[in-house]
Amino acid sequence: MLFRFSFPFTIRFFFIPPPCILLFVLFSFTCFNSTEAYDPLDPNGNITIKWDIISWTPDGYVAVVTMYNFQQYRHISAPGWSLGWTWAKKEVIWSMMGGQTTEQGDCSKYKANIPHCCKKNPIVVDLLPGTPYNQQISNCCKGGVLSSWAQDQSKAVAAFQVSVGSASTTNKTVKVPKDFTLKAPGPGYTCGPATIVKPTQFLQPDKRRVTQALMTWNVTCTYSQFLAQRTPSCCVSLSSFYNNTVVPCTTCACGCQGNSSQSGECVDPDSPHLQSVVSNAGPGKSSITPLVRCTRHMCPIRVHWHVKLNYKEYWRVKVTVTNFNYGMNYSDWNLVVQHPNFDNLTQLFSFNYKAITPYGSINDTAMLWGLKFYNDFLMQAGPLGNVQSELLFRKDKSTFTFDKGWAFPRRVYFNGDVCVMSPPDAYPWLPNAGSRQVVSLLALVMSSLVALVLYADT
Ligand SMILES: *[C@@H]1O[C@H](CO)[C@@H](O)[C@H](O)[C@H]1NC(C)=O
Ligand SMILES: *[C@@H]1O[C@H](CO)[C@@H](O)[C@H](O)[C@H]1NC(C)=O
Ligand SMILES: *[C@@H]1O[C@H](CO)[C@@H](O)[C@H](O)[C@H]1NC(C)=O
Ligand SMILES: *[C@@H]1O[C@H](CO)[C@@H](O)[C@H](O)[C@H]1NC(C)=O
Ligand SMILES: *[C@@H]1O[C@H](CO)[C@@H](O)[C@H](O)[C@H]1NC(C)=O
Ligand SMILES: *[C@@H]1O[C@H](CO)[C@@H](O)[C@H](O)[C@H]1NC(C)=O
Ligand SMILES: *[C@@H]1O[C@H](CO)[C@@H](O)[C@H](O)[C@H]1NC(C)=O
Ligand SMILES: *[C@@H]1O[C@H](CO)[C@@H](O)[C@H](O)[C@H]1NC(C)=O
Repeated sequence: MLFRFSFPFTIRFFFIPPPCILLFVLFSFTCFNSTEAYDPLDPNGNITIKWDIISWTPDGYVAVVTMYNFQQYRHISAPGWSLGWTWAKKEVIWSMMGGQTTEQGDCSKYKANIPHCCKKNPIVVDLLPGTPYNQQISNCCKGGVLSSWAQDQSKAVAAFQVSVGSASTTNKTVKVPKDFTLKAPGPGYTCGPATIVKPTQFLQPDKRRVTQALMTWNVTCTYSQFLAQRTPSCCVSLSSFYNNTVVPCTTCACGCQGNSSQSGECVDPDSPHLQSVVSNAGPGKSSITPLVRCTRHMCPIRVHWHVKLNYKEYWRVKVTVTNFNYGMNYSDWNLVVQHPNFDNLTQLFSFNYKAITPYGSINDTAMLWGLKFYNDFLMQAGPLGNVQSELLFRKDKSTFTFDKGWAFPRRVYFNGDVCVMSPPDAYPWLPNAGSRQVVSLLALVMSSLVALVLYADT
């Protein structure tokens, strides 16, 4: 029951947050229940939605709603976010700027002025870039796309303005909306209740006067990969210069190939009808239901980690991300990789890099993403559907080894979702490796407090 999000292989890695190492003995499972929203590499990651009432009106208020994507590496890509809630009373939306509701609902009881939306549970989406200036507010109109916090904070914020009617008009009587939902664009986020907080202060452009909202409430939404999708969307394959075995992605890592030529489950690249299959799928659905190329792993994304060279003081890795999805170009893609040698990363070619240090002193996790206008756009499956980079690490004599798969990453995320790793006993061996009995139940990696658990899933 704990591992309903079950991978079809028998051994799995877990990163254990330091507090869990202590708790491990007592409560072995609470720390890495994969159904929880808690992400050990981004423990404070959330999307915060803030409502600032900026004026009272005869029958309600005008509020600016701002959404902050505080997640380090999880972004929202096209077709973008949609935010829903349920009004506490009989509120309506008279008008909006920088956003719109997807449905107007039944406004038949209004005669003269017709509201923008009369639904009890409106759903708001962003406007598209190029919206006329008189319908914009600052931070709006990005087609619902939000950057991750580490990649570009200025683009990690969205905003729209609502003019609410049939509502109370004082901060004592106003009722906050309930049951917030955030789709991005699919499921995955869970939002808490709105809580009234200290009114936001706004520094005026001349920086000589501070004004404040009449009332402010916040809503926090967190992400869980388990809620988002039943199957993983990414896998990791491995190779090295010291052994010509390539460890491929696990078979059925993201799904198994259907045994029916007409099943629309995957796309055969040699099919003469490839063009028509791909273009008939329609761009809207494609980003949620991937049009994946038929492979043994069936993942839309594969990350390949090749240990390429060994120098006296350094070692070099080549990372390749391949897109097997015919229905999706990934713009502003990102990769998060955990490896103990990231504290001594010396050089990185053709990707951006940022250290992710959720626990301060532990510097073993890197976020990698493409260079603007060069490889920030991971093209759909095909000859151009890959991006690559090389990493140069400085060896720390006390920890460095090619033995027992040390040179391979511990954990990889693509666009914030965990990638399926191969079982460690399949990793390429060093020639003449001594013991072949690699699998032990608990192996602590010495360099840091990071622990690696090989957990038998029986
Ligand atoms: C949301 O994220 C911000 C930034 O990381 C953090 O300061 C805040 O405490 C988080 N909120 C919750 C409720 O976790
Ligand atoms: C409400 O959200 C804003 C924006 O994220 C943040 O600055 C503020 O600290 C939050 N307030 C509380 C009490 O969490
Ligand atoms: C409501 O406004 C009064 C002043 O008019 C202020 O003292 C109070 O803190 C406000 N309450 C909230 C919840 O903002
Ligand atoms: C698909 O099914 C046919 C018979 O129904 C079988 O001969 C073939 O080996 C199967 N292919 C795969 C990939 O399982
Ligand atoms: C991906 O981008 C290319 C080039 O911009 C475009 O021709 C193609 O239609 C796009 N594919 C999808 C699925 O959006
Ligand atoms: C982590 O290591 C990298 C590479 O050595 C270094 O550039 C970065 O400053 C370190 N970050 C922290 C927070 O220690
Ligand atoms: C690797 O990084 C750690 C922490 O930043 C530092 O203490 C150590 O001296 C570095 N090792 C080498 C070989 O540069
Ligand atoms: C390479 O690694 C594989 C395990 O993945 C092992 O079976 C093989 O014997 C190794 N080859 C050499 C030359 O050590």
